[in-house]
Amino acid sequence: MDLFKNPLILKITAFVFITLTFFYLGKHWSHGGYQQLVFFSTPGESVGVSPNYNKDFNVSDLVLQPPPPPPPQSDRVNRTFGIIDSEGKMSDDFEVGEFDPAEVKNWGNETEVESEGEGSRVRIKRFELCKEGMREYIPCLDNVEAIKKLKSRERGERFERHCPEKGSGLNCLVPPPRGYRQPIPWPRSRDEVWYNNVPHSRLVEDKGGQNWISKVKNKFRFPGGGTQFIHGAEKYLDQIAEMVPDITFGSQTRTVMDVGCGVASFGAYLLSRNVLTMSIAPKDVHENQIQFALERGVPAMVAAFATHRLLYPSQAFELIHCSRCRINWTRDDGILLLEVNRMLRAGGYFAWAAQPVYKHEEILLEQWEEMLKLTRRLCWELVKKEGYIAIWKKPMNNNCYLSRDTGTTPPLCDRDDDPDNVWYVDLKACITRLPEDGYGANVTTWPASIQIDAYIARKELFKAESKYWYETINGYIRAWHWKKFKLRNVLDMKAGFGG
Ligand SMILES: *[C@@H]1O[C@H](CO)[C@@H](O)[C@H](O)[C@H]1NC(C)=O
Ligand SMILES: *[C@@H]1O[C@H](CO)[C@@H](O)[C@H](O)[C@H]1NC(C)=O
Ligand SMILES: *[C@@H]1O[C@H](CO)[C@@H](O)[C@H](O)[C@H]1NC(C)=O
Ligand SMILES: *[C@@H]1O[C@H](CO)[C@@H](O)[C@H](O)[C@H]1NC(C)=O
Ligand SMILES: *[C@@H]1O[C@H](CO)[C@@H](O)[C@H](O)[C@H]1NC(C)=O
Repeated sequence: MDLFKNPLILKITAFVFITLTFFYLGKHWSHGGYQQLVFFSTPGESVGVSPNYNKDFNVSDLVLQPPPPPPPQSDRVNRTFGIIDSEGKMSDDFEVGEFDPAEVKNWGNETEVESEGEGSRVRIKRFELCKEGMREYIPCLDNVEAIKKLKSRERGERFERHCPEKGSGLNCLVPPPRGYRQPIPWPRSRDEVWYNNVPHSRLVEDKGGQNWISKVKNKFRFPGGGTQFIHGAEKYLDQIAEMVPDITFGSQTRTVMDVGCGVASFGAYLLSRNVLTMSIAPKDVHENQIQFALERGVPAMVAAFATHRLLYPSQAFELIHCSRCRINWTRDDGILLLEVNRMLRAGGYFAWAAQPVYKHEEILLEQWEEMLKLTRRLCWELVKKEGYIAIWKKPMNNNCYLSRDTGTTPPLCDRDDDPDNVWYVDLKACITRLPEDGYGANVTTWPASIQIDAYIARKELFKAESKYWYETINGYIRAWHWKKFKLRNVLDMKAGFGG
């Protein structure tokens, strides 16, 4: 394997290997199987102690173990992964990820692993358990001090990230809910989860009558309904697919965002249609809805349409859906809908299910008119309106924007505005330009898109590493019996291209 001749790769491999080995050892030395993986499983104790506390590990022993079995050679298959060099030729001369060796050392510090002597012995530090009231604590969202200092709260600023300053971060273990147990495995988790794992009854009280969620003995049940899914989520998806046949879930439409996702039934049901949905909601009065989504095994993130860009690049989603998500899309010259526009692919769809679409009260009719005017100025085409759903399509290129009357608002964004720059970037009331080269407008259907993307991709996408990860993960599953862990939600903290 040429890969392992590269010293950097070797370092990374060793690092990953050590990390995984500790995980494995921790699991096996804790005498209790899965439950003990939650390091603090005895409720009521004021101090939680890692099962590895005070144990010594011989690092050189661990590092010297053989790496996972090398992936099978595949010379005879035509290579479809690699990078495109400056001449547009496929090449395998690339590094997986961009690792700074210094950074790897920092990680060691952050995991609070103390090294003694020549780096051969390691001791895990002891942490206190956080206060009882912190079971739901999220450092960047529950930073009361920072929220108090906000100049304005009118635009939902308090639901955005306010991370603690360096040095004042969390230094205790957030306790699991009382009576926490191993989650019900997918696919059953789509329909029921343990009450104790997400002990929030407020949503049932508020939304129980709307067929979203109910509590039956020690479980929550999700009937697959929802305020707008009167006939169930399956029927609702069928309706969208019939309204706009081009949406074709699973091939034309592969990545979806569900805004204000509730208990994420929309995303849960789209999974079986081969669509990946990112369900988002703020951590608001309905407690943390995202916890229900994750417990069900549906990908989800806490996020709010407020004053900053969401943490996704431009053209990330083929469909963005909002069913009664209670967002004022027309406020501030449509600044929030412009954020939807940025994240939608060229030719992507926006599906809106809300009262103004179908109710005839005067104020709602006015809101509908406002929405129509705004979407027209954004060059969105109202493809279909039926029942309580309206579906718009974003243009394929900039032609329509450029042919608008001069002075039409919102204006196009400056040419030097980087649409993929999202980290703490303020929202602006301007239309994100589409790339002149048509990138994003000409996507082949899944699964072919995973390969073709490398050809038509932006420069950074060149390090397509899907095949590398496919084989590596298979190696890990075989060597470390990952199947036993019954993993469903995994957070990849250096996702790269998501391989
Ligand atoms: C760690 O393991 C290596 C290799 O097995 C051995 O040579 C060394 O003596 C061990 N160190 C300690 C401190 O046990
Ligand atoms: C590889 O590509 C060549 C040329 O495109 C084709 O003739 C050949 O059949 C392919 N081989 C495989 C194994 O797909
Ligand atoms: C990590 O810890 C070592 C030893 O305590 C220290 O020398 C080094 O500066 C630390 N690195 C960072 C980035 O804090
Ligand atoms: C949305 O915001 C605009 C401007 O602030 C306001 O006029 C309008 O009434 C709001 N619409 C809703 C539904 O709250
Ligand atoms: C889309 O791709 C097809 C086939 O590769 C090509 O013929 C067509 O010109 C492309 N269209 C755009 C808008 O790039």
